[in-house]
Amino acid sequence: MTAEPLLDVRDLTVEYRVARRGTLRAVHGVHLDVRAGETVGLVGESGSGKSTIGRAVLGLTTPTAGSIRFDGREIAGLRGRRRARLARDLQVVFQDPLSSLNPSLTVGELLQEPLRVVRRVSRSEAATAVGDLLERVSLPRDAAGRYPGAFSGGQRQRIAIARALSIDARLIVCDESVSALDVSTQASILSLLRRLQHELGVAYLFVSHDIAVVRNISQRIVVLYKGEVMERGHTAEVVDRPCHPYTRTLLDAIPVPDPRGQRERRERRLAARDRTLGDPPPVADTGTGCVFAARCVEVHDVCRTHAPTPVPVGTRQVACHIYDPASGHPRVGELTEGAADGRLLPRGR
Ligand SMILES: Nc1ncnc2c1ncn2[C@@H]1O[C@H](COP(=O)(O)OP(=O)(O)OP(=O)(O)O)[C@@H](O)[C@H]1O
Ligand code: SF4
Ligand SMILES: [Mg+2]
Repeated sequence: MTAEPLLDVRDLTVEYRVARRGTLRAVHGVHLDVRAGETVGLVGESGSGKSTIGRAVLGLTTPTAGSIRFDGREIAGLRGRRRARLARDLQVVFQDPLSSLNPSLTVGELLQEPLRVVRRVSRSEAATAVGDLLERVSLPRDAAGRYPGAFSGGQRQRIAIARALSIDARLIVCDESVSALDVSTQASILSLLRRLQHELGVAYLFVSHDIAVVRNISQRIVVLYKGEVMERGHTAEVVDRPCHPYTRTLLDAIPVPDPRGQRERRERRLAARDRTLGDPPPVADTGTGCVFAARCVEVHDVCRTHAPTPVPVGTRQVACHIYDPASGHPRVGELTEGAADGRLLPRGR
């Protein structure tokens, strides 16, 4: 792994124009980076902005603000031929490969297309390369003669991965790539992605609403809520010792085999629900405060008026007022605004 990130996203904001509703801010001030040969998981509930970030990286959505650097070069505003040239390095595997794989082409034609267009190899070289690609994703070479519709969901995902790899991509955005598959097929695709990473050094930005899946494949994790990063850091730390109340909420939603653990989680979820009953509308609606305040079991008054800035807690970053920016330790007591410099202090200090 190199120290310099392969993908470096800074302060990314994406707004959509919505008819009769004005502007919708889908992503706000997001930082994330992915190093060569690494998997970074991007997790959050539906509508949290995960795909918007993936699309901005791929050049399918124009950022409103911020920077997206790939291999040290700004790519946020790239258009036309210069953007097309990036296709060699940056690929995507979506949730539903049928919608991204032209059903009227055979698998062989689908895999040859990028080889011939981007790498400009000859027809016979492309045919050999297709067989090798199919073997690489554990499909038989004769799959080249069949159409995508003749394969199962898991096999189609292997074809989509082979297509992404056909031009030696260095980063693949996997957007809910295993979400539509059953658990055992999910496991086999995740293991394929890991093997390919080991063999080829490809990096993944792995987007999923399922923190259990993200935990399984990512070395680092970024937790997103309403378009903002709540917590990011090494997966083992974030998942085993979550700091942010939202990360804990996501983890509490994963079923556990132990009935006592399951009961404790259910109680925490119910407490969270009771805590938020009767709360005012989400603070994001007013544009102030923490975006998670309306659902947070640990909310303080200050959370409704001041947005938290990310604080280093060990090697991770946590956007929550509970953590003291100087020490990274949780603050105790009711948080209030310091009179002199606007700092947030435990009440009575
Ligand atoms: N083209 C668009 N025009 C307007 N609003 C959009 C557009 N695409 C996404 N949005 C909105 O932006 C927000 C983020 O959407 P996005 O698809 O990035 O979320 P997501 O985290 O990928 O959700 P999911 O898990 O459901 O795929 C949502 O409120 C969504 O409705
Ligand atoms: S800043 Fe406040 S509302 Fe937001 S997550 Fe932290 S405690 Fe909860
Ligand atoms: Mg999405």
